[in-house]
Amino acid sequence: MSAASEEMLALARTVMNRAYAPYSNFRVGAVLRGANGKLYAGCNVENAAYPQGICAEVAAVAVMVADGERRIVEAVVMSEGDLLIAPCGGCRQHLSEFADQTTPVHLCDPAGVRRTVTMAELLPLAFGAGNLGKDPP
Ligand code: THU
Repeated sequence: MSAASEEMLALARTVMNRAYAPYSNFRVGAVLRGANGKLYAGCNVENAAYPQGICAEVAAVAVMVADGERRIVEAVVMSEGDLLIAPCGGCRQHLSEFADQTTPVHLCDPAGVRRTVTMAELLPLAFGAGNLGKDPP
């Protein structure tokens, strides 16, 4: 499986540091590489009305789709702290919409990749477009 590039890691560090997380103090950065080769980055943006906060992965997916790209070929998710970053269930679903089962997802801290998993390992038995009789985007 491919290793995350220094470019992806550096961008993830940059956006993680820009996260707006005054309530949890848990900053997350996500960087997606589209099939077009471009990188798309997002961070978590919290809100005083807690449920309105958005996750870094969702922010990055929105930036990618707004640019006209719909396929993720590689993803980096970065956070601080001792425990391995475990993308939340909702974010796994958001990534899965635009990724393949074999798409590598690098789980990182600011020092680099701690573990790389495939999309299928992150979200086994995923519900997807096929369940609705549709082609993937
Ligand atoms: N968070 C993410 O941005 N991505 C995840 O996959 C897990 C959680 C954010 C949401 C919230 O702002 C903070 O981390 C604590 O849950």
